[in-house]
Amino acid sequence: MIDKTYVIANWKMNLNVHESSLYLHKLDEAVKAHRTVETILAPSTLALQAMSCQLNHRKFKLCAQNCYWRDSGAYTGEISASQLRGVTQYVLIGHSERRNVFGETQKETGKKVQAVIRNNMRPVLCVGETALEKSQGETGEAIHDQLTAGLAGLTNEDMKEVIIAYEPVWAISNGNNFGSHTTPKPHDLYEVQSLIRRQLGYLFGDDVKNKTPVLYGGSVDENNVGAFLSVPGVNGVLVGGASLHLQKFTKIVEVAYAKRNVKR
Ligand code: PGA
Repeated sequence: MIDKTYVIANWKMNLNVHESSLYLHKLDEAVKAHRTVETILAPSTLALQAMSCQLNHRKFKLCAQNCYWRDSGAYTGEISASQLRGVTQYVLIGHSERRNVFGETQKETGKKVQAVIRNNMRPVLCVGETALEKSQGETGEAIHDQLTAGLAGLTNEDMKEVIIAYEPVWAISNGNNFGSHTTPKPHDLYEVQSLIRRQLGYLFGDDVKNKTPVLYGGSVDENNVGAFLSVPGVNGVLVGGASLHLQKFTKIVEVAYAKRNVKR
């Protein structure tokens, strides 16, 4: 059994350093420390350092939203995994906004995953099909390609650090239409986590297939999180819009804890 439920707050390009710090202060008062729930905050890169000094490390972990794969050099505007080392414990890699808005390639996601592991952090590799791929029945192929490229060159030992987040692009809200998106039905989510695990098994064997945390992301809120976490094989959630609301996010963490105890 996977030892924890992972709840990741992806604040995207929201909240400045002061606002992030204030939010963390309030969240710290609202949320209890749960040994079985890993609550992970992904603020803007600018806020990571200040939050790292401020936060209660037994209660929260930090996550960068992206990184570059080379350790240093003439790469204006980029931040390397080696610069994040010691500040964050996790790094999101291949979020659909990185892929679709910034043109990040499959090959780059693989190099970034390797860079994160090389620098002793845990990559959260995001995969998921677009609306077009879904409508053409290509969900399996899309995820297969993203996993194959994103996990290229990793060993079974490396895979102990990897988390996969299934984020169907059609289910992700964009801030303007928060809450109005359709999300996968439990049965469909079960099918996709199974195909992710089948692919992990094919690439790395049964141990990795069974022990890699697979999360769901896309319009998760305090009302639907319980249903996602009830799907067998789903080990947590990646929350965008709702994580910017203190009460919603607090409730999400509470539901994750309650579900965890039911699952045991
Ligand atoms: P959302 O974002 O919860 O606002 O849909 C999820 C994500 O993009 O990680």
